[in-house]
Amino acid sequence: PKRVRVHHLRQAKERGEALTMLTAYDAVTARIFDEAGIDILLVGDSIGDNMLGHPTTIPVTVDEMIPAVRAVARVSRRALVVADLPFGSYEASPQQCLATAVRMLKEAGAHAVKFEGGAHLAEHVRLLTRSGIPVVGHLGFTPQAENLLGGKRVQARDNDAAEQLVADALALADAGAVAVVLEMVPAPVAERVTEVLAVPTIGIGAGPGCDGQVLVWTDMAGMTGWSPRFAQRFGEVGAELYRATRAYARAVRERAFPAPEHTYER
Ligand code: KIV
Ligand code: NA
Repeated sequence: PKRVRVHHLRQAKERGEALTMLTAYDAVTARIFDEAGIDILLVGDSIGDNMLGHPTTIPVTVDEMIPAVRAVARVSRRALVVADLPFGSYEASPQQCLATAVRMLKEAGAHAVKFEGGAHLAEHVRLLTRSGIPVVGHLGFTPQAENLLGGKRVQARDNDAAEQLVADALALADAGAVAVVLEMVPAPVAERVTEVLAVPTIGIGAGPGCDGQVLVWTDMAGMTGWSPRFAQRFGEVGAELYRATRAYARAVRERAFPAPEHTYER
């Protein structure tokens, strides 16, 4: 399959073709998502709360991200692989941001990076873009700032905040961002951002008017008991995994497994 590249993102927007994006944190799932035709695999810092047992994304380190990005990049043959920059690894300066992004590409094989924030990070986006690293922006509810934002809440509800969001999105795109993720913003606001940007918006809890959609794969597949309102459970993989695990344990206890066909003769 032909690799999805950054020029395909803008092309998809121009043609009105919806982009599909899903998180992935390991080779097993990344291979499935890639073969299923997902356009963009995001190694999200949501690895923290979804895979590493942290309560939020805030404790995630670059050293925790790198092996996950490497696993996803190694097995994906078609998808564009985007690595999140974790909290504390990019904010201080464009130089810090570039150094972290370079690790994601050189050590881990990512094709692009994503980080959270608006116009105040335009210089970060500009330096990476000039250095040959595609950047995906992330606006609206930005989980790394949840302490400041007062928890997981819908952003840009009032007019001033909506205008600020549009200005932030334009600043990122103007600095070279190849796409912008919009998380938990009212659908009409996301639609407005989508209209004014030449590059695609990718929504999560941002309504149907975005150019593409992204979900955390464990939400999409029904791996956990709870999923956020904006996430449809397209399967009940967690329940199926539980069922398989119970069946395996029962078979071992009943000495029904291993059977002769699983057994080597000498
Ligand atoms: O880390 C993540 O999963 C994300 C998506 C929700 C966009 O940033
Ligand atoms: Na993230």
